[in-house]
Amino acid sequence: MDFKSILEKIYRGASPEKNDLTSLLSAKTGEETESLFSKAYEIKKRHIGQKAHFRGLIEIGNICEKDCRYCGIRKSNKRVERFFMDEEEIVSEALFAYRNQYGSVVLQSGERQDDYFTEFIERAVRRIKEISSGELGVTLCLGEQSEETYRRWFAAGAHRYLLRIETSNPEIYRNLHPPDHDFEARKSCLHLLKKLGYQLGTGVMIGLPGQSLEDLADDIFFFRDCDCDMIGMGPFIPHKDTPMCADAPLSPESSLELALKMIAVTRLVLRDVNIASTTALQALSPTGREMGLLAGANIIMPNLTDTKYRASYQLYDGKPCLDENSSMCKNCLQRRIESIGESIGFGEWGDSPHFKKGKQ
Ligand code: 5AD
Ligand code: FES
Repeated sequence: MDFKSILEKIYRGASPEKNDLTSLLSAKTGEETESLFSKAYEIKKRHIGQKAHFRGLIEIGNICEKDCRYCGIRKSNKRVERFFMDEEEIVSEALFAYRNQYGSVVLQSGERQDDYFTEFIERAVRRIKEISSGELGVTLCLGEQSEETYRRWFAAGAHRYLLRIETSNPEIYRNLHPPDHDFEARKSCLHLLKKLGYQLGTGVMIGLPGQSLEDLADDIFFFRDCDCDMIGMGPFIPHKDTPMCADAPLSPESSLELALKMIAVTRLVLRDVNIASTTALQALSPTGREMGLLAGANIIMPNLTDTKYRASYQLYDGKPCLDENSSMCKNCLQRRIESIGESIGFGEWGDSPHFKKGKQ
């Protein structure tokens, strides 16, 4: 079958074979990618609407016990100045999100599993719920934790959890991480989170060394099979102070294009999930996040982190908005989203239709 027929078949809702997905992911620049993005956008319009939701991102600390070989805040990187916000700082950023009708916040940090951290997060989540009369949704993006910890944080009021699988190929996963990082442990955390009642988010990096289009197709099947409600994916962008600083197999342009194709194909297959247009897209092009929305994504994560900490929270090189503050990012993103004819779901949690269906 030619590209057009495969696209039409998947658009109409046929259950995809792996080679359908690899064909779509190999769309040629120009007419083929344009038609792929526009079909994905039509599916988004039908299932989600021409609407983006905000999740205010608070990068609460960069102290990390892990040593992922691609990540700028890995434990072995001695060139990062480490920070950890205090509770009042987190609460005041959440208050900004609440007053500006963001609907929800994401607390993200380097991975820590100590008791102090567990209790600190529990308190911070409770405070955020209190100051917003329970209205602000809370997503956590705090890595692998024990069942007990996930349970406590859920009881405190967090209702979504983002934990990327990074790649569904165990061998690539092994190459990305030191030997004590365990692919199976990551997968069991995803199961636990789902079982405990969190809305589950996962995702991958795109354009990794050794990653083929078959791997990316498998990533999409992985998203489907773990029944996740949201997906956050972005291009792999080397960080200069990491072992993978020179390992990007693709040029920034090709990497951006492949990431956009991955968003579009994921939208075509999964239809009613939330898909983030990630900041990493904007690191590769000033309009990368708008492109993500036009390829089928529907979630934007404006940065709420105090400007003074932003330079210390660089997971990859070229992260945008390091000198901006929360208001600047809000106005900037609002303008960007409205410039492509979309509205923002202010004051709404923006749960995915997929999650709402699952509850019925
Ligand atoms: N390039 C792109 N994404 C990265 N992340 C970490 N380091 C990089 C990098 N160099 C992503 C990972 C992680 C998320 C918080 O940030 O996918 O799960
Ligand atoms: Fe931060 Fe544009 S998103 S200034």
